[in-house]
Amino acid sequence: MADTTGKGLEGVVAAQTRISDVDGRQGRLFYAGYDIADLAAHATFEETIHLLHHLELPTAAELSETVATLRAESVLDPLLVDLIDSLAQRTEAMTTLRTAVSAAAALDPDDDRSPEANLRKAYRLIARTPQIIATYQRLRTGADAVEPRDDLGVAANFLYALTGKQPDPQTARDFDVVLVLYADHTLNASTFAARVAAATLADMYAAATAAVATLQGPLHGGAIEEVREMLEDIGTPDRAPGWVRERLAARQKIMGFGHRVYKTWDPRATVLRGIAERLGRQFGETRWYDTSVRVQETVMAEKHLYPNVDFYTASVYSALQLPPDLYTPLFAASRMAGWTAHIREQYADNRLIRPDSEYIGPDPRPWQPLESRG
Ligand code: ACO
Repeated sequence: MADTTGKGLEGVVAAQTRISDVDGRQGRLFYAGYDIADLAAHATFEETIHLLHHLELPTAAELSETVATLRAESVLDPLLVDLIDSLAQRTEAMTTLRTAVSAAAALDPDDDRSPEANLRKAYRLIARTPQIIATYQRLRTGADAVEPRDDLGVAANFLYALTGKQPDPQTARDFDVVLVLYADHTLNASTFAARVAAATLADMYAAATAAVATLQGPLHGGAIEEVREMLEDIGTPDRAPGWVRERLAARQKIMGFGHRVYKTWDPRATVLRGIAERLGRQFGETRWYDTSVRVQETVMAEKHLYPNVDFYTASVYSALQLPPDLYTPLFAASRMAGWTAHIREQYADNRLIRPDSEYIGPDPRPWQPLESRG
């Protein structure tokens, strides 16, 4: 009989990677050796993209080239805009994003799968994903799509394409930091899905589509939206302790808490908590942050569980007044950087990923003709 592993593949090392590393005991995350706290303090999303794909921080010249490439690739093909338009009124945000990422394959100008072509495809996917989300939001609300500007970075351009207004520099930087924080996280479920697809030598778009599909669930990227629903349901900070205790007594999970790897503070949640607090003050709406803090204190006191990355992101996005159903797509907009880096890493040293299963069904038995079944 095959060896069995913990349910959910816990503790199984299923890939080697140079892209990112988590120390779940110390609560630390590194992208190619750089501490996420340093990256959140200093790096832009564009620098982070280069780092994840090349495993080194860009020189000034490389950064200019990355910024220029991402800007040039962020303009959506009219056929893609038409597709988004036809879906926008009747299709959920993550379904639209998954469909658009898949459809973008048909419009990719590279028809080979060389490493160079795959890097170009990766940057196209990273550049287009935020614009797909912004375009979806504009079209479903009856507004015209806004083309990205050639003088703004990825973060500011997303907010500009979403609202038609240039964000103030601090808000743009806050959103930029969120993109940096979400860009990669070792072998999480969606990245694993991307690597499994890539290991069959499915193309870059197919593997990225598998990742978007896997992110959707509430146990993964979908948790941010569930946190927002929870905060709405709670209403005011004073109601948080009772609400949390009631749920825990009913043995229900509190979304945004717990993690397979971290057994202490998720270092990204620490940064996001600070951003949520400041944005709440800046926009004069501290209810989301204040309620989150009471929830967190109660979950800690009752269950000794730490918040994960998604918990304070809901307060950040609520302060920015982003539509709740875009929270998970925005996770994808950032993680596309990590997914595509992992897909390229898988291609570079590939073996089909094909684990075993342990059979627990009936013993071998004789065929039963239809007339004798009952
Ligand atoms: N609320 C209450 N109890 C929890 C929570 C929670 N959020 N998370 C874990 N627990 C408890 C479980 O009930 C279980 O207790 P038990 O042993 O008494 O049954 C124990 O902690 C272990 O939990 P598992 O679900 O087995 O842990 P696992 O490693 O499989 O799951 C996961 C990790 C999915 C993140 C889990 O903590 C969870 O469901 N959290 C809520 C959803 C969420 O926030 N997801 C986002 C994760 S981060 C990300 O994807 C970017």
